[in-house]
Amino acid sequence: MFQPDLLRQKRILITGGGTGLGKGMAHRFLELGATVYICGRRQHVLSETETELSRVASGKIRSLPCDIRDLLRVEQMIESIWKDGPLDILVNNAAGNFLARTEELSPGAFEAVLGIVLMGTINATMACGRRWLQALHPGVVLNIAATYSSTGSAYVVPSAMAKAGVVALTRSLAVEWGNRGIRMNAIAPGPIPTEGAFSRLLPRPELEQFARDRNPLRRFGTTEELANLAAFLVSDGSGYINGEVVVMDGGEQLQGAGEFSALGRLLTEDDWKSMKPRKAPKGRQ
Ligand code: HXC
Ligand code: NAP
Repeated sequence: MFQPDLLRQKRILITGGGTGLGKGMAHRFLELGATVYICGRRQHVLSETETELSRVASGKIRSLPCDIRDLLRVEQMIESIWKDGPLDILVNNAAGNFLARTEELSPGAFEAVLGIVLMGTINATMACGRRWLQALHPGVVLNIAATYSSTGSAYVVPSAMAKAGVVALTRSLAVEWGNRGIRMNAIAPGPIPTEGAFSRLLPRPELEQFARDRNPLRRFGTTEELANLAAFLVSDGSGYINGEVVVMDGGEQLQGAGEFSALGRLLTEDDWKSMKPRKAPKGRQ
């Protein structure tokens, strides 16, 4: 799909790059020649991913344990990366989420998700952005949001609040920093099977089946599809895309919004036939 050196000489940090979609993006970026840094809280997970992905030809990978909620730790991590050379690209991918009825959430539960998703994204973005602005170094930020960042969603309210904030940050800084060479975009994925997401959000087979069936494509997205879109959006080939939120959900969100879209599931062949005009419309036989 891409030239094999699309991301050569690009230095990329992926937060939460030890697992799931972050790991998938790390793999793809390495294949395309990038130098990739991944961070997360669990050292053993990062080390395993680093070892596994270091076998991928082309790029280089290094892992750094860091809790992105902690600004001091983020600054230390970014400083240690910058010692090798400036980053070119930041992918804010780390997240926390769970299904719950909102009235049962403690303040700590809100804080846990907002801390990772919103504050973590702000911490990493500011640490890179300030360095880029000061050095007049171009930069690209890609934020991984969710389809419900624009609509909200029941039962994942802290995540919906935080992702909406991430999208607002994306659009705001795209304008404020665009004239100084920094591009900001986001991807809003629909469901893509990962252990982290599916164990928490679709934890039973019938929930998974329900989610698959309500998608117009009748399937989930794949990590490879997400990684390809991410590679395009962080590459120089998408240099005029700024402040955009690209939805990648098989049309799921649109299906939920269209007033009559669900009729395809309810109406039978006979129903459709019975609604046809008995006489052919004028001009037709
Ligand atoms: C209610 C919960 C809860 C739950 C935790 N809490 N789980 N409340 N229901 N299921 C509360 C706790 O009681 C606690 O509140 C507070 O949240 C913090 O919990 P901890 O376990 O101490 O926090 P921590 O170890 O930091 O874990 C953070 C986490 C966890 C978010 C709770 O799930 C995590 O580490 N997640 C990282 C990976 C992840 O979530 N991946 C999925 C991303 S998918 P108190 O009051 O006791 O302090 C995604 C989009 C998917 O984002 C979209 C699919 C279509
Ligand atoms: P995942 O595997 O659970 O990824 C989350 C990653 O974030 C983990 O590697 C986790 O590692 C890291 N993380 C969590 N808290 C952190 C913290 N405080 N500091 C640093 N790293 C932290 O889930 P995923 O499905 O790949 O999700 C990746 C992104 O896609 C998230 O932004 C998610 O909201 C988004 N998304 C996913 C889907 C989907 O269906 N999969 C759909 C829409 C959006 P540690 O636990 O080791 O820290």
